[in-house]
Amino acid sequence: MTLLNNNQINNQQNLAHEVVEDSNPTNNTDFQTILDRRLHRRSILKGGTGLTAAAFFGAIPLVGCSDDDDSGSTVVGGDAAIPAQGDLTRPETLKFSPVAHSTAAEMSVAEGYTAEMILPLGTPLMSGIDEWKDNREQSAESFDWRMGDNHDGMWFFGKTGNNYDAKASEGGLLVMNHEYVNSAELSPHGYLTIEDDDADPIFQTRRLATDVRREVNCHGVAVVEMKRRADGVGYEMVLDSKYNRRITSTTTSQLTGPVAGSDLTKTKFDPTGHKTRGINNNCGSGLSPWGTYLTTEENFLGVFARGQDAEKLSAAQNYGRERYGAIENFPGWGYLWHSPKNEDATIDDEFARWDMTAVGANAADDYRNAYNTFGYITEIDPFDKNTMPKKRTALGRFAHENCAYAPVEEGKPVVFYMGDDARGEYIYKFVSTATWSNADIGGGLSAGDKYMDDGTLYVAIFNEDGSGEWKPLAHGQNGLDAANSEMAFNGQDEVLIFARAAADALGATKMDRPEWVSVSPMTGEVYITLTNNRYRGERDDQPVSASNPRSYNDGGNDNGHIIRWAEAGGDHAAMSFQWDIYLFASPSDLTAENLSQLNDNNDLSSPDGLYFDPRGVLWIQTDDGAYTDTSSCMLLAALPGAVDDGEIITTSAGQQTRIGMPASNDNIKRFFVGPEGCEVTGITMTPDFKTLFINIQHPGNAWGAVEGGSTPRSATVMITKDDGEAILAESFTE
Ligand code: FEO
Ligand code: CA
Ligand code: CA
Ligand code: CA
Repeated sequence: MTLLNNNQINNQQNLAHEVVEDSNPTNNTDFQTILDRRLHRRSILKGGTGLTAAAFFGAIPLVGCSDDDDSGSTVVGGDAAIPAQGDLTRPETLKFSPVAHSTAAEMSVAEGYTAEMILPLGTPLMSGIDEWKDNREQSAESFDWRMGDNHDGMWFFGKTGNNYDAKASEGGLLVMNHEYVNSAELSPHGYLTIEDDDADPIFQTRRLATDVRREVNCHGVAVVEMKRRADGVGYEMVLDSKYNRRITSTTTSQLTGPVAGSDLTKTKFDPTGHKTRGINNNCGSGLSPWGTYLTTEENFLGVFARGQDAEKLSAAQNYGRERYGAIENFPGWGYLWHSPKNEDATIDDEFARWDMTAVGANAADDYRNAYNTFGYITEIDPFDKNTMPKKRTALGRFAHENCAYAPVEEGKPVVFYMGDDARGEYIYKFVSTATWSNADIGGGLSAGDKYMDDGTLYVAIFNEDGSGEWKPLAHGQNGLDAANSEMAFNGQDEVLIFARAAADALGATKMDRPEWVSVSPMTGEVYITLTNNRYRGERDDQPVSASNPRSYNDGGNDNGHIIRWAEAGGDHAAMSFQWDIYLFASPSDLTAENLSQLNDNNDLSSPDGLYFDPRGVLWIQTDDGAYTDTSSCMLLAALPGAVDDGEIITTSAGQQTRIGMPASNDNIKRFFVGPEGCEVTGITMTPDFKTLFINIQHPGNAWGAVEGGSTPRSATVMITKDDGEAILAESFTE
């Protein structure tokens, strides 16, 4: 037995998550960028529309009518679907006192607010399950009823009686993702491996069955009923609630939409290709307009292994695997879930299903296609624990970060925005075929069947002149057919399973790792964080471009930026848009990089989590490694303007681009700093705006440990205002 260094493996896993895969081999944007530069250098110099933010707001029509008496302001699409009860006016300035940079072991929040840790890793959801102890000896099986690891995206679902109520705050269901595990901090003996020289190469380093089982059960989603505390401030868990539930990487899930039943999803578990076991690496979250939870599958690559099987697969199948990082003889990212000895399994193929090697005569004999059953937007109805998670394949398969809907309007399609978080990957939107009806609010997974299984997936092209276009991932159009030279697409199932390859063929723009996306309820404009990309300006296939205009080394790209766009005519189903860069993140003392004029009160690095609350306040979270010597990861509040409210600038890489209005103490401010070593992620607010929940992943320094313990734990943080008013209430009063 070899006891590896626990810190080393934890660092390796954190790094793997941060650094992500690197599997976009195409040169499509290279060519596109050069062409665009030649054609459009002059038009970008001509500048934008000249509209100021004020003029823009004054001119914007009310899209959709508000039938909610409580919405007193210019809310786009204001209606029953908005999870808010109260005044929806956005403040003009931010009046709270900014939180200083901090690298302390503890978290800090703005003066007048209280931040409390709740629901840490291992918290029992049912009585009769022992408390988490620092010896970490709680059984692997017990995690079916405990909070999992690395809390991430989440949503608070207001509840009245047994039903979803978008306006209710007395009680609700807090639903959250458990994205991945810190292996070395989960098992009593840390990260343990056994060398087995007689095994095939991808099995030569084995892990213990109990450790893998614990990790599998620490992934997925938790549903926790919350009730307002007796003193009226904040919430507490309802132990033994009939809603409390864990969905893990063992939970049987259904594939729905065009991929269901595909030859490429048939496995030994389900030779018909309609079901798979588990949801995995659930990162960002989304609410559906009808009140279900949309979880995402991001870095699923890391838990799979692939041996030597290229000769058994078609050229297209091989290309598709490699385009998603799964090259031959790939052991995964250290989790090695495929590796315990078969005789240790307690259910059929408990471990073999994480090995995608084609070993049998055909797909029904092995798990060669299991890999194709992960990487989807997955819908869960938290109000009905008898329903199976549904993987909505029409929204494409990639490293999904989160999923945000545009404000819905009666009679118009429902539109979802999504990013693929890997270096040089793409931004997508899905437009439903069915048109929206408020009657579907509370409709559960049946409403999902209506809006998410049938529609068109599009990928974004960001032109150099500030315009943009959407290209459909539709089989038979634009070369997405069996004659395609890179990858033969035999049907819509293959276009969606290999969405990245289809997007390559459409000339999509390679972005700097698209993370969370959110839609402004004020302007209807779409914002997405581009967290950083170490290949930008450094690798030939990813030169700087107007939409990704900073190089990584000495250029500020390591600090990331936030891009935004306005759909043509304010129509989210439009085929074109106008974009600019809302904000460049940067340490405030770096002159060349600090293009948005950030200061000590609002500088940030590597934006990741992003959320417009229903009042139009933009919350920005960071997952950073570039500025953490000065400050740990943080949460900021911001009041953005609109596309074209800034000017044209040139970055230190010599690239021209459009930047939004400068940052100021009035329009962006640091609200919270997390404990040292953590990532601040996941965000949701109760409909009365009085409680803000955020998540802390992988903290250092024993943050979240039991009293006297040393094992740090991921947890949720509940933030309330000390005077019991709404979050940011001070910003609404003179
Ligand atoms: Fe799980 Fe891209 O963050
Ligand atoms: Ca993220
Ligand atoms: Ca990140
Ligand atoms: Ca993370």
